[in-house]
Amino acid sequence: MASTTLIDFQTSPAGALTVSITVPLADASIRFRSLVASDVENVCALFADREVMRLYGTGEPRPADQVRKRVMESWIPRWESGDPFSGMAAERLPLDEAADKTVQFIGVGVLGHGDVPGVSEMAALIHTKFQRNGIGLASAMAVKEYAEALIARGYLVEGEPLREIVATTLVDHPASNKIMQKLGMVVKTTNMRFGHRRNVYFLPLKAKSD
Ligand SMILES: CC(C)(COP(=O)(O)OP(=O)(O)OC[C@H]1O[C@@H](n2cnc3c(N)ncnc32)[C@H](O)[C@@H]1OP(=O)(O)O)[C@@H](O)C(=O)NCCC(=O)NCCS
Repeated sequence: MASTTLIDFQTSPAGALTVSITVPLADASIRFRSLVASDVENVCALFADREVMRLYGTGEPRPADQVRKRVMESWIPRWESGDPFSGMAAERLPLDEAADKTVQFIGVGVLGHGDVPGVSEMAALIHTKFQRNGIGLASAMAVKEYAEALIARGYLVEGEPLREIVATTLVDHPASNKIMQKLGMVVKTTNMRFGHRRNVYFLPLKAKSD
């Protein structure tokens, strides 16, 4: 079946990159777009939410100054320098945008730099009230298409073409493990961090033209 995901790249004369990935669902569209400074308080609130963070990273909410630093000093400067491996805002848009203009911030998606050249790390956080609606799986599939489009466009991550996505999740995180397996990711190894056993998944990639 042909993909319905729309991926748009815009580059400014100064070289800044703006990306949007739109995923149509049955009752709304989900859009991932390059983070901008006006998103920072929404992102801080997301990472401060105990329920969202329960199975993510250390399992604890993240202090606002750390999150703000990541957004303002890492993710946004990457977009500004034309680097497509960065953090995105996730938004829910009504299906009929002409009749209803409500755009809701629902979370964050990251296709970032991995630990080694040519590898990108994927992560996602969705506000609790939007979870369990199929958004996580649809978004992960769209981010995979975005990664394939980046290969086709010749983007490099840490100086090498993207060849693999990695993602780490707790072994007892049902939604996350299910999404990674449905995406075709395979467990490369397991490790212990922050007192929890975690699966490290990987997905080898091929280029896909727009
Ligand atoms: C992980 C996360 C992105 C999943 O998003 P989501 O929109 O809730 O996921 P989906 O609705 O697409 O569900 C994916 C699958 O997991 C299942 N699932 C979702 N939540 C579940 C739960 N709490 N228990 C068991 N299964 C669950 C769904 O039924 C679905 O399976 P199916 O396709 O067989 O029906 C979201 O829960 C989240 O942001 N959590 C907080 C941050 C986090 O932990 N991120 C992941 C670490 S990388």
